[in-house]
Amino acid sequence: MSDFNCWVTPLNRREIEPTYQGGTIEYEDFPSAIDITGPMLYALFQDRWQEVQLGHVVEGSVLELEFTEPPKLCILYDGYLTVVTQGWHMHLCLEEHLGGPHCKTPPELRQQRLVSRAALYRRFNADGQAKSWGIQFWNGAGERMMNLFLPNPFLGEDEDLLPEGKPKLEKLGLYEELRSIYVLGERPIPFEANPLKRPYLSVCRSSRCNPSRKWQPVFEALKTAVEKAGLDVTVMTSGCLEVCQLGPVVFYSGDRTWYTRVKPEVAKRIVDEHLVNGKKLDEHLYPAAIDRA
Ligand code: FES
Repeated sequence: MSDFNCWVTPLNRREIEPTYQGGTIEYEDFPSAIDITGPMLYALFQDRWQEVQLGHVVEGSVLELEFTEPPKLCILYDGYLTVVTQGWHMHLCLEEHLGGPHCKTPPELRQQRLVSRAALYRRFNADGQAKSWGIQFWNGAGERMMNLFLPNPFLGEDEDLLPEGKPKLEKLGLYEELRSIYVLGERPIPFEANPLKRPYLSVCRSSRCNPSRKWQPVFEALKTAVEKAGLDVTVMTSGCLEVCQLGPVVFYSGDRTWYTRVKPEVAKRIVDEHLVNGKKLDEHLYPAAIDRA
């Protein structure tokens, strides 16, 4: 995290793609590294969620999802950004997905899944008028991944078209702001470190993780120990952490460590010995320390 640079080096890459309807799509690329996409997406989902919609647009299929309240979760786990809302969730591979504690994902698949190109776009009609604005992602195979729809000055409440000649141009503020920061590098990224790299501890609360139904006391013990140690580490619960045995299972994102058979007293040791003093608890590591050597 220490080498985080809040200034984007512009790619200066602009592409115009013709559309079937006689219009065009203009793409302006920005770097797809996680220290760029991470802060951008975190800020959009955490702070500007009312202004964006999540989508997927390919020939023959359009999906548009809107936020009706702030996301319940916005974290990075094993390369995937996960955003959870009341009614739906999404995953987007922003960093190599290694494949859980055993790093099972083959190298070529890691590259294929990864966001490898990112661009702000504007769609123009056949008369050359910009009609929609957004962010598009592509994976390592060059396939279109999800996109984000940015505020559209031609749309009013409930996505109704506004009368001709009455666009609310101030709605382009978010597009202009993102372009200035991430495409042109004129303004700094508004974070001092990548917010998706902020370390967290997570306890699996899935019933599949027998006997991790005992996650609650572990969660409480982790929270208490983190508070007592004064650490800037979030403590949360999650679904499957890809161990699925020997629960309760705890994951520390700071250095990608899984622990099994975690009782409250072990939880306290994880914080005191590992997070504070840098010494992992070998007897609870997963895979076992001997298998990692
Ligand atoms: S269900 Fe708990 S780690 Fe998979």
